[in-house]
Amino acid sequence: MAKNKTVFVCNECGAETPRWAGKCNSCGAWNTLVEMIKTKTSTKNSLHMTGQNSRPVLLNEVISDNEIRFSSGIRELNRVLGGGIVPGEMVLIGGDPGIGKSTLLLQMAIQLARNGVRVLYATGEESVQQVKMRSERLNGANVEMHLVAETDVDLIISYLNQIKPQIVIIDSIQTLMTNDLGAAPGSVSQVRESAGRLLKIAKTMEMAIFLVGHVTKEGSIAGPRVLEHMVDCVLYFEGDSYNSFRILRAVKNRFGSTNEIGVFTMAESGLEEVGNPSAHLLSQRDAAAIGSVVTATIEGTRPVLVEIQSLLTETIYGTPRRMTNGVDYNRTAMIMAVLQKRAGLYLGQQDAYVNAIGGIRVTEPAADLAICLSIYSSLHNSTISRSLLAIGEVGLTGEIRAVSQIQLRVAEAEKMGFKSVIIPSNCTENLTKKYLVEIIGVKNINEALSKI
Ligand code: TYD
Ligand code: MG
Repeated sequence: MAKNKTVFVCNECGAETPRWAGKCNSCGAWNTLVEMIKTKTSTKNSLHMTGQNSRPVLLNEVISDNEIRFSSGIRELNRVLGGGIVPGEMVLIGGDPGIGKSTLLLQMAIQLARNGVRVLYATGEESVQQVKMRSERLNGANVEMHLVAETDVDLIISYLNQIKPQIVIIDSIQTLMTNDLGAAPGSVSQVRESAGRLLKIAKTMEMAIFLVGHVTKEGSIAGPRVLEHMVDCVLYFEGDSYNSFRILRAVKNRFGSTNEIGVFTMAESGLEEVGNPSAHLLSQRDAAAIGSVVTATIEGTRPVLVEIQSLLTETIYGTPRRMTNGVDYNRTAMIMAVLQKRAGLYLGQQDAYVNAIGGIRVTEPAADLAICLSIYSSLHNSTISRSLLAIGEVGLTGEIRAVSQIQLRVAEAEKMGFKSVIIPSNCTENLTKKYLVEIIGVKNINEALSKI
């Protein structure tokens, strides 16, 4: 019988220390150390793939994953996964509560089961009846799919051995536990051990496992960081709960690019794919609004047109307020400073609110010029032509800097019916094709402001 040893484990990073402390030595977080019993099984590292089947092979003899990928039945999800599901991969999906993780995975499970794939959906958060009700809402109540409400990971693994599914969905990893450990479900050791045991069976039996993971207030997946290192693919499902727009983003993908995003809207009967995000984002655009300018950003490999809105009002209190939603706060503050210094706009006594419309988050500097123009428009209470689009990064000297993939952006603007596009002047030579839209190249913000 192995001797049980007590260790303290950090809930944030999973680091172990023999003694309790108020602050974790490894990640510096406070009050995160919890006591747990370290039994023999937990010391045996189940994450490592050891065994007789590990022998060196020649690289050129290994069969590539691409040939054996299969479709998840949801185009936008395939795109984010790098083309489809790879057998044996483990995917972690994180996101705020209520964003639609369970809905997305159940929808995928239904599609796959319809196509004759063996699927097991294990839930620790809902009853089988609740899942049934949800599947009725998703019009998939009569598919042949295995369903189990269970939190014991060892039992789940025994079901996997019986049923031998090709796809497994675990909702969620934080509810799983093994009786071999003394700790409570959701604790670092339980999450790590459960995921480790599942990973082992995923790799040996070539089944793809999708784990739902809860997200902490700070936005990281609750539980040990090691979870994100263990899995092959980490996806975040984001969007705000007041808006139906949802974006699935890959933050790690061993089998594809992390640049891709999948776009959905949450509807009455589940998630709907948005094939044309630009049309969706511009659908509610007002005829001639003051302070509104559209820009073209690149999300993954796709151009997406986003409306930027600004509202400037005179400051009532001593310090002017600045608020942003969907665009970077610091970047906007910098752009306002440039406008004040280089274009002579007096913004020191103005409250400024700058939003990206539609629940999308714009992180690209290519949106700078549109932010500039929308602030200018709001300050002077003048409308900017509805058919004008602005692309360009703004530098500290007021210069408009080149952006990547200009052809894609301009082509999207043309497709969506814009008449003219303001772009950085040193991008104009990259436009080799003839476009129907008028191309206006500008060198600095003063030139851009004079063109509108
Ligand atoms: P859910 O998938 O349960 O979120 P998560 O698993 O990420 O916590 O999504 C729940 C939300 O989605 C809930 O607020 C209701 C909404 N919803 C719809 O609008 N339509 C639907 O068809 C379904 C199933 C859910
Ligand atoms: Mg859920």
